[in-house]
Amino acid sequence: MKIKKYLENYNLSHKRAFVIGGSGQIGSEVINALLECNAHVFSFDTKKLNIKNSNFTYQFFDCKKLNFIEKNLNKFVNKFGCPDILINTSYPVLKKPIKNNFSEIKLQDFQNDVNFHLLSYCWISKITSDLMVKNKISGKIVMMGSIYGSLGQDKNLYKNTKIKESFSYPIIKGGLVNFTRQMASFYGHKNIRINIINSGGLYGKSKVTNKKIESKFLKRYESRVPLKRMGTTSEIASCILFLVSDASSYVTGEVFTVDGGWSII
Ligand SMILES: NC(=O)c1ccc[n+]([C@@H]2O[C@H](COP(=O)([O-])OP(=O)(O)OC[C@H]3O[C@@H](n4cnc5c(N)ncnc54)[C@H](O)[C@@H]3O)[C@@H](O)[C@H]2O)c1
Repeated sequence: MKIKKYLENYNLSHKRAFVIGGSGQIGSEVINALLECNAHVFSFDTKKLNIKNSNFTYQFFDCKKLNFIEKNLNKFVNKFGCPDILINTSYPVLKKPIKNNFSEIKLQDFQNDVNFHLLSYCWISKITSDLMVKNKISGKIVMMGSIYGSLGQDKNLYKNTKIKESFSYPIIKGGLVNFTRQMASFYGHKNIRINIINSGGLYGKSKVTNKKIESKFLKRYESRVPLKRMGTTSEIASCILFLVSDASSYVTGEVFTVDGGWSII
């Protein structure tokens, strides 16, 4: 009986969840997790995701079009209703992310990356929070951050590999960390909670090369992690479920690190 009381926190029936970037590696796993908890899930992405479930809706949305974010979110809320949950797992990258390193980055690309990634994440969260307040919803927001939002990158990992350090990624993810705190402080009295997940590296394709992660890089990475491996999307989805459920009702403004211990040493 007692266990039921706690598990009931994860029952998201009658909750609307907007997932930005829902067609991606993390986003699609998060959508499956939300559907398992009976939420009604809306995925907003430039890429279509086919899921046959009456509780799932896909909607085209381009977060790089900053000037249209407010208009589009208003339109979506009028069409689908105001979300109880917003999860941003989008990864709006430059055309050539491989050139986003200290020796090749151009000012225009730097500006674009910050606009597309940092500004879109912040603006989507702010506009959605205002809509939640207007609709008297006790909202939950989770954004995808990275260990590189709190730490610098280790140059040694990239030596003699095709993978390079990123110039703007740590700036963007670092900005999101303090934005989370400021948002949590500002919207707390309206019962809106906002948290960020600082994820370590996950198994899958490299976002920079769009290929399988090079084994030299992978070995170096794994040996540096106390748990001796990369993470999986389901390990991220589990934490997101916790943060959007009532199980975390007293948690806000937090950086939730999921990295196998990478950042403790
Ligand atoms: N995968 C990892 O190892 C890892 C580690 C740490 C942090 N993260 C963070 O998690 C988030 C998601 O990563 P992922 O690995 O799932 O990436 P992904 O590339 O697999 O998915 C990102 C999704 O965002 C969508 N997207 C891209 N541009 C868009 C736009 N302009 N408008 C709307 N949607 C757009 C893509 O279509 C894709 O479906 C990112 O913020 C990333 O920084 C990922």
